[in-house]
Amino acid sequence: MTIASPLWGAELDHIRLDSADPARLAAFYRDAFTFREQPLADGTALLRGPGRRLIVGRGGDGSQPYSAFRFTDAARLDAYKAHLTAQGINLMPAPTPLFSDGAFAVADPDGRQMVFGLRDAAYEGGDSAAPGHPPGRLQHVVVATADLAAMMAFYEDALGFVPTDHVLRDDDGGGQTLTAVFYRSTPEHHSFAMFLSDAARPDHHAYEVSCWNDIRDWADHMATLEFKLWWGPGRHGPGNNLFFMVEDPDGYKVEISAELENMADDDPVRQWPHNERSLNLWGPGWMRV
Ligand SMILES: [Fe+2]
Repeated sequence: MTIASPLWGAELDHIRLDSADPARLAAFYRDAFTFREQPLADGTALLRGPGRRLIVGRGGDGSQPYSAFRFTDAARLDAYKAHLTAQGINLMPAPTPLFSDGAFAVADPDGRQMVFGLRDAAYEGGDSAAPGHPPGRLQHVVVATADLAAMMAFYEDALGFVPTDHVLRDDDGGGQTLTAVFYRSTPEHHSFAMFLSDAARPDHHAYEVSCWNDIRDWADHMATLEFKLWWGPGRHGPGNNLFFMVEDPDGYKVEISAELENMADDDPVRQWPHNERSLNLWGPGWMRV
């Protein structure tokens, strides 16, 4: 069986992070994640490494105004655009300089933009690995929201993200409340996820590495720079991935991950209890609610 979603095959390409002190934020990512920094014409900075790139701009501390997903070819992008247009979804100009003509953006119920497009060849290359550093491919981005139902209707029903796992909290009255949803757009367990919280906010993004030893090497790299691990190492329940997280200077969380599960096309949505163990099989959990 092939998944019918018109989004299928789209991968996270880059995200934008904003800060009141963008130079400090860019310096952190340059050092902690061995990005090379390139100033762009619009005043933002492009940070890039092998398989990963970010845009850093001026704005509210720790805000993450858009996430950009790339399609593999123009036919898929055009079909996806038609799919959204047929639903009456408002398409806006793409805010990123990294995609070619034809890219577009949509706004989710929390006001964050999702951008879809094709890579612009002008920004290809120049992302060779820093010597001696392990890999780290930008793989997923996660947001927190106070209105999970509205966000699910948008991301799942309208955009076509495919649900992989649900996290459910038992309520006093005997019912259950969804507290997290993990979505995939390729066989990888999730490329996007949402956590229920008291307000809409960015949550984290993640770089996928090839093995446990890469996690060790990234942690040793952080130690050299005296950046403390904020959470982990551990293993998530949903996704079964090994991980640790660090905080950037604005308090936004960044994850190094390995062994993220691959799903079969016909795997049904699984359910996890809302507890620390689901979030970290090895120890303490980061509970958003
Ligand atoms: Fe993650």
